[in-house]
Amino acid sequence: VSDLFASGEFDGLTVVVTAGPTWEAIDPVRGLTNRSSGKMGYAVATAAMEAGAKVTLISGPTALPDPERVRTLRVESTQEMHDAVHTHIVDADIFIGVAAVADYRPVRAADGKIKKTLEKMTLELERTPDILASVAARKPAPFTVGFAAETENLEQHARQKLEAKKLDLVAANRVGADIGFGTDENSLLLVEPGAVTELPMQPKAKLARALIRHIATRYRAKHT
Ligand code: CTP
Ligand code: CA
Repeated sequence: VSDLFASGEFDGLTVVVTAGPTWEAIDPVRGLTNRSSGKMGYAVATAAMEAGAKVTLISGPTALPDPERVRTLRVESTQEMHDAVHTHIVDADIFIGVAAVADYRPVRAADGKIKKTLEKMTLELERTPDILASVAARKPAPFTVGFAAETENLEQHARQKLEAKKLDLVAANRVGADIGFGTDENSLLLVEPGAVTELPMQPKAKLARALIRHIATRYRAKHT
């Protein structure tokens, strides 16, 4: 591993990370998805591994190779990600939900390719399960960290998610046409009950290490 960063802050801990987008099939050749390269989630999984944790990464479709020394499971739909998370979270100490999960899916996927016979068409969509909220609702729940990609009112929206989903921490980042997606740099606003911490713009690998250090401090404070 990197001798530069073998911190031991997560020694003995088990961590589950989600990353990438999810994919909801419309028919065999089309689907609904979210913009996400998976880079941030893979960087978080790697940083947790380097800090000494046993890491399971549950990833939607990405173009990235499996990170070294991280058990990586590939899924497509939100339901598959949800089920894989609950299978692997049982003994986990920390959950970090970095995935850009589809909020809605087609009520039914067509068995065959939909032909363009209609001038207009309507897709009926239903809500997907909220993976993060379902993890935070487990008894006992792991230390639960969410991500929030927002275009405006970053702190306010992040705090709403923190409270609504009963999370320990929300890492919020600003997104827009040209920021946050597919790039190698990012910044994060860490929102917790009674605290806000800014991690400035930096390479995603470095940012992920700073996030892991922050989580380790809070996790230890909660479990001593
Ligand atoms: N998330 C999840 N399951 C979903 C939707 C979101 O686990 N079905 C997780 C994401 O992985 C992320 C966090 O919830 O860690 C916040 O996602 P975000 O899209 O910002 O929030 P939502 O609760 O989906 O609200 P909205 O999209 O309306 O802002
Ligand atoms: Ca969402």
